[in-house]
Parts: sequence; C-alpha cells; structure tokens
Amino acid sequence: MDAAENRCSLAFKQIAKVVNSELPLKKMMGLIAASAARSLQASGCAIMLLNPQREYLDIIGAFGLSDIYLRKGALNARKSYPEILDGKTVAVEDIIADKRTQFPEQADKENLKSLLGAPILQKEEVIGEIRIYTHEKKHFKPHEKDFIATVANIIAVTLEKNELSQYLNTHHETNVTQQKKLTSFSHLPLKPVRPTSFSHPSEEEFARLLDFYQVEWLYEPRSFPLSWEDKRITEMFTPDFYLPEINLYIELTTTKQSLITEKNRKLRQLKELYPDVNVKLLNKADYLKLFVKYDFIPLGENKMNGVGKYLFNKTQIDRRIKSLAKQISKDYQGKDLILIGVLKGVICFISDLMQNMSIPLECDFMAISTPQGKSDSPIKITKDLDIDIKGKHVLMVEDIIDTGMTLNYVLNYLATRKPASLKVCTLLDKRVRRLIDVHLDYIGFEIPDEFVVGYGLDVRGKYRNLPFIAILE
Ligand code: IMP
Ligand code: MG
Repeated sequence: MDAAENRCSLAFKQIAKVVNSELPLKKMMGLIAASAARSLQASGCAIMLLNPQREYLDIIGAFGLSDIYLRKGALNARKSYPEILDGKTVAVEDIIADKRTQFPEQADKENLKSLLGAPILQKEEVIGEIRIYTHEKKHFKPHEKDFIATVANIIAVTLEKNELSQYLNTHHETNVTQQKKLTSFSHLPLKPVRPTSFSHPSEEEFARLLDFYQVEWLYEPRSFPLSWEDKRITEMFTPDFYLPEINLYIELTTTKQSLITEKNRKLRQLKELYPDVNVKLLNKADYLKLFVKYDFIPLGENKMNGVGKYLFNKTQIDRRIKSLAKQISKDYQGKDLILIGVLKGVICFISDLMQNMSIPLECDFMAISTPQGKSDSPIKITKDLDIDIKGKHVLMVEDIIDTGMTLNYVLNYLATRKPASLKVCTLLDKRVRRLIDVHLDYIGFEIPDEFVVGYGLDVRGKYRNLPFIAILE
C-alpha cells in the first residue's frame, strides 16, 4: 500500500467507528468531514443536504472552513456545480476561474483552489453532496474520486439510520400519496427535522403551530457570527427557527424581558452584517397573542376580559364595504366571479359585501380546523367547496389576516383546483403580525396589533353578533 492508500484505509476505519457510535448526527458529520479531508490532504470539507424543494444545499457537517465562509448563505442547488446533483462526481481544478462557482469572492478570501464533489444518493436519488476543498491547485486522481464517492455512500447509509432521513422519507412518501389524494397539492405537507429537545417549551409550542399549518421549519439551523477578532469568532447569534419556504428566521424571546434589549442589539447587528437575511423577533406578548384565538389556551393567561373601545362602528364599516364592492364589481366586470369565504368569521362581511356588488356572482364556503392543544393532526378542511371553481375567477373573502398561515394554506389548496384567477379580499389586515407574507388584493382596514371582536369575529365563539368591531381588553 502506498501512503495515499494508507490514508484512505485509515479514514474508512475512523468513519466506520463514527457512524456506528451514539454521537449526534451533526457531530458525526463533522467527524466524517474531517476524516475525508485529512485523507485527501485537503484543507476543508462540507457535507450538504438538499432542502425538500431541491432548491438549495444546506451544510450539515463541515471541517476546516471558517465560520464566515460557512455562513455565506445556502448554496443555490442549480447554480452551484449542478452536475453533482445529476449524480456525477465532479473535480474542479480552478474554483475561482470556474463559471459554476457560486461565491467566487468568498472562495478566494478563503484561499480555496480546487474542489472534489460527489453526490449523496439514496435509492438512486440525490439527496445531498460532499465536497472537498484544497488550498493548493490539485488534480484529483481516480482513486481519490472513488474514495469520496464511497464516503458519500457511507453518509447516505448513516442518514438513513437517522432522523434526518426520516424527514426526507416522510417528505417523499407524502409527495406521492398526497398528490394522489389532493390532485397535485403543490404545497407539500412536510415533517420537519425534529430536534430531540428544544431549549424552551414555547419553542416546542411554536413548532407545533407551524406543523399544524404545514409550514416547513428547521430548528436553529444556522449561527451568524456577529463579531470576530482575526478569524476567531467572539460573538454569534443563532435564531430559533428558519422557515425555508418563506426564507424567514424567527427568534422567540419568551423568557426574561430584560434579555430583549440584548436580543434587539444582536438583531440590529445581524441586520447590518447580513442585510439579505430576513429575521423576526417575537417577544412574549407577540407570542401569547399567537395563541389567543385558539381554544386550548386558558383566557386568563392573556388577561382578556371583555369588549373595550370601538375600532370601527357600523357606519364606518358600511362605507368602507360599499367602496370595496364598487371597486371589485368594476374589476370583475364581464367575468364569472365566485366569492369564497372561510367560515365562520367572514359571515357578516361576505353578506354585506355581496349585497353591495353590482355584477352577477356565486358564493361558496369552506371550513377548516383550528389547532387543538395536544393533538398532532395538521390543518384539515372540514367543509369543502360545493362549486367546481376550475376556470372561474375566484375571490377569497376573509374576515381578518393575522399571521397569514390560514390564508396561505387555503390559497395553496384552492390553487390545486385550477381557477382562472385567485385573489384575496380581507376586511381587516393585522399587517404587523404577519409571518407569511401573502399578497392581499383588497383590504378594508389595516388594524394595529390588537385582538378584535364583533361583526362576525369571535373569541371562543362569542361576540360575533356585535354590529361593530371592538378591541378586546
Ligand atoms: P392567521 O392564520 O394567523 O392569519 O389567522 C387568521 C384567523 O385567525 C382569522 O380567520 C380569524 O379567525 C382568527 N383571528 C385572527 N386575529 C383575530 C382577531 O383579532 N379577532 C378574532 N379572530 C382573529
Ligand atoms: Mg377565519
């Protein structure tokens, strides 16, 4: 055996030991990356997984790359050496000169010269990649390509053993079965990577809420360095959640309010250093308000006693609805229009709206479930449409848009029914609380971050019959 073969054989021994250990997955991947890099006398290695939409590659283990390089942003799967995703092992002698390099400047700063990448395949499908980087220009030999392809295979088997692959499997399975059930439901329900423990119960509750609305999430997938001396990082910030579908990081601050000032400072710094990163801070009050509308949280916790001050009286509501109806009638002149309302909050609004419309129209209703305490079942449609909306112009009529999660789900569902067009009209828009930024075409009133009742809107089923909209105190 020559020295190179010796190094590879040693690496296999180390890797076999690691994958058969009880170490957490992240740790395992880091160690595999280290062994792989060392055996090829390379400077760095990254192990990456494709997200379920197959749009970007997220690092699950790395060695020898600076944190600054690792946090440069997820790699766009189609732009960064797409041949690897076609199942090929790719050797790049000159990273900086290669057109397929997505972040040449960062690679240059990091002094990365050559690269060897191999696909991670599970059941003949590429689920990720391993890449080796060198500081000196290198021509990779066939046995080195074989070596990295084998390491990729070992990683695939390791992932299969692990919860991360459960996540991917569930995704693929749902992909097929759900498509049969719901006729190509483009917005796939995903089982996210479930951490074995959250650092706070509120995080777990929040994760459950996202699960309910079938919003994909990752828990603490990335840390952002905030300050460093030379290449040593002295301060980092790790947001609690990342919602890849909407590219949003979320930080929950439900513990000590005194920490909020500190968090706000970090957040400001983060926004300055990473202007392209979208991040939102939810403090304790924001967080409690998320759950106010669901029956399973005792009202006392949120100190909601009764109707407080008016927000809009009947005259104000009437006037606004007349003007909305006029605008909508004009926009849909000569078209087959169907108004769709989600029960029950919308009853007053949709009734007054259609009575003020001057064009022929149909209307239909849907009902959907709301989160129930400890139950794990995701959102479902409890009353489906009666009318076939295919080829028709649909206007979703909503009482209020809060986080946007309900509307997001409903719109994705309606889109599978192939309407000619799909727009949204809402009486109230609580914009400041939005998590999913769905586009709204017609808005009655934008309202502040308050819980409101009346004119169809309820709390625990009450107050719908008030002929005005009031703030609940
Ligand atoms: P989202 O999914 O968070 O946008 O919540 C939308 C649904 O929550 C609405 O259709 C309402 O049923 C309910 N909701 C949100 N905010 C309020 C409110 O202030 N009063 C009454 N119901 C609300
Ligand atoms: Mg509603």
